[in-house]
Amino acid sequence: MNVLKQILDPAARPDPYRYFGALRESPVTVQEDGTYLVSTYREIVALLHDPRVSSDRRNLGAGAQDDVNPSFIGLDSPEHDRLRGLAMRHFGPPHSPETVERLRPKMLELTTALIDALRGRTRADIVDEVAYPLPVAVICALLGVPEEDEPRFHALADEVVETLGPGEEDRAERERARKAAAMELSRYLAGLAEARERAPRADMLSGLITYRGPAGGMTRDEVVATSVLLLIAGHETTINLIANGMLTFLRRPDLLRRLRDDPELIIPAVEELLRYEPPVQFVSSRVALDDITIAGTTIPAGAPIVLAMAAGSRDPAHVARPDEFDVDRPRNEHLGFGGGVHYCFGAPLARLEAQIVLKELVRRLRAPRLVADPPPYRPSAVLRGPRHLVVEYDGVD
Ligand code: HEM
Repeated sequence: MNVLKQILDPAARPDPYRYFGALRESPVTVQEDGTYLVSTYREIVALLHDPRVSSDRRNLGAGAQDDVNPSFIGLDSPEHDRLRGLAMRHFGPPHSPETVERLRPKMLELTTALIDALRGRTRADIVDEVAYPLPVAVICALLGVPEEDEPRFHALADEVVETLGPGEEDRAERERARKAAAMELSRYLAGLAEARERAPRADMLSGLITYRGPAGGMTRDEVVATSVLLLIAGHETTINLIANGMLTFLRRPDLLRRLRDDPELIIPAVEELLRYEPPVQFVSSRVALDDITIAGTTIPAGAPIVLAMAAGSRDPAHVARPDEFDVDRPRNEHLGFGGGVHYCFGAPLARLEAQIVLKELVRRLRAPRLVADPPPYRPSAVLRGPRHLVVEYDGVD
């Protein structure tokens, strides 16, 4: 079986890393369906920064995904830069430098309540009870999406991400399901954006719909596409970072002890998690706009490109002892948040959320231990993480 197929097989979900060595033997390989898979750090970084590599699937030509309304993750410069700039006005420096930091007390308050709820028993599912509700509540607070609507978009958001992925079976069927879910999520956010336009509040959705600068603002369709993107990107990945983090710590009692003794270690630990157990294992949305020769292979114009980020972050040509989780690395350059113009928009928020919740879980759960190792995984090989992470513990501090 070809290496990519082995990685995509659900049986490989607990440990795809054992296949990555074989994958990296050829930095660029062409798959049966004509996709070019790139798996070494240097080559991935080069392509992330190459203007001949497009993120716009419409460049695939016939049969391309015709998303009615692509968001900026699926657009190239200059449209990408205009929309990302308009969104960033309400999220980060230079116009809103305080947005993420202002959410810190809310994140701690939510984390405290979620962990308090684990009291009075000795078993909990870290995914369903902590890792999922926290990022959802945070992204809802940021955007201004009422939390009580969560059941409405939870299933839709799951549908959109579970159906993503390179080269798996039933592509056409999955593509239809993904589009239907994305459309429904768009309708929901369009309604909310209209309400915010009439009566703005202090949230990001109100900012996006009402802002008009010297070069204009976002159209309604652009606001909807941007908020669908933020809602999905803002939680489906962070859940996995938190769950992967707890799993990694529980497998290493020495590490758990060190983190308890020195809570500030959580900062390099989260960075190392993004390298060692990245929630985004593949970026599968690139297209060559021209013939691109890289590592001796020519990727022809029009070919789809998949970047194996998780393999790149464990490339021994780039990082020493790549398969070891080491919080003491002097420098940690990983591909966990991507790179180039599409570098993760929400990285400061995701980092802070993961740091807060993991620090509190380590501090408050008494003698936590895994019930099943490996745990069951969510289906996606692209956005990879445990479906459940059941732990037993002696009490809650
Ligand atoms: C641990 C959590 C997260 C991980 C691992 C992650 C990872 C990534 C990666 C790898 C990309 C690059 C995709 C590409 O190149 O095509 C990306 C882009 C993006 N992420 Fe995140 N992300 C996380 C959390 C978040 C959060 C919390 C938000 C929103 C608040 C967010 C919003 C975005 C957006 C909007 C983009 C597109 C950026 C662009 O196209 O310019 N992400 N993320």
